[in-house]
Amino acid sequence: MPVRITVREAGVSDSPDDLAILGAGERARAGRKREAAPFVTGHALVRRVLGELLDRDPAALEFARRCATCGSDQHGKPSLVNAPGWHFSLSYTGAGAIVAVAQGVEVGVDIEDLTDADFEGFARTTLAADEVAGFGSLDGHDLLVARARVWARKEAVLKATGRGLVVDPSEVLVSGPGEPARLVDWRAEEPRPAQISLADVDVTTDDHRAAVAALTDEQLVVEPA
Ligand SMILES: CC(C)(COP(=O)(O)OP(=O)(O)OC[C@H]1O[C@@H](n2cnc3c(N)ncnc32)[C@H](O)[C@@H]1OP(=O)(O)O)[C@@H](O)C(=O)NCCC(=O)NCCS
Repeated sequence: MPVRITVREAGVSDSPDDLAILGAGERARAGRKREAAPFVTGHALVRRVLGELLDRDPAALEFARRCATCGSDQHGKPSLVNAPGWHFSLSYTGAGAIVAVAQGVEVGVDIEDLTDADFEGFARTTLAADEVAGFGSLDGHDLLVARARVWARKEAVLKATGRGLVVDPSEVLVSGPGEPARLVDWRAEEPRPAQISLADVDVTTDDHRAAVAALTDEQLVVEPA
């Protein structure tokens, strides 16, 4: 049976309503950021979406973190406290934030700004040698779209596993930019997840691309929150 992933995006803004629903820890983190607005928008979006889905006060939600690499509770993938079976993932750029929520399966979401994919050495740092061919003779805007799409797929997978960029993304192979999203190969020494599915997410801003992954073999159905 397909697994439903609920997704919502938001444009980054300076809304005081967003800051008002954050917890003390989030406000302290926001205060330490060089640019607080993307962080505040993203974390307020998490609270609003989860609050609506669970019918709870967004400002009263509590979160915990656990690092899949070292076991610390000070960093790593966040989870909602007192909500067994509910999983979420957050990603944000300077301009936009996205949240994905799933029930019963770990989920990872990633959004990429095309301009962030515009750097020398992209292929070297993110792609396996045999993935480079999938980019063919793309250049200009088309190349940035292709890079952002593939990068979002890889990071969504790594965020679903909770390991993040501890795993070298060039050792996690995904389908080429013109193909439907799927994990193609796992060459990292860290264990491959037993089950994983991947899907692109259509975002409303043309200068971003996003993807979602979940630890399941079932097909993903991405639905707006
Ligand atoms: C997770 C990670 C890929 C996010 O990269 P990014 O592109 O900069 O940021 P995104 O906007 O896409 O996602 C950020 C959000 O991902 C979530 N996140 C953080 N760590 C995560 C992890 N290990 N797995 C899944 N999600 C994670 C958080 O909600 C975070 O938001 P916050 O920092 O405001 O709380 C990157 O920060 C990473 O690899 N972290 C792990 C590093 C690590 O574990 N090191 C070993 C320490 S022992």
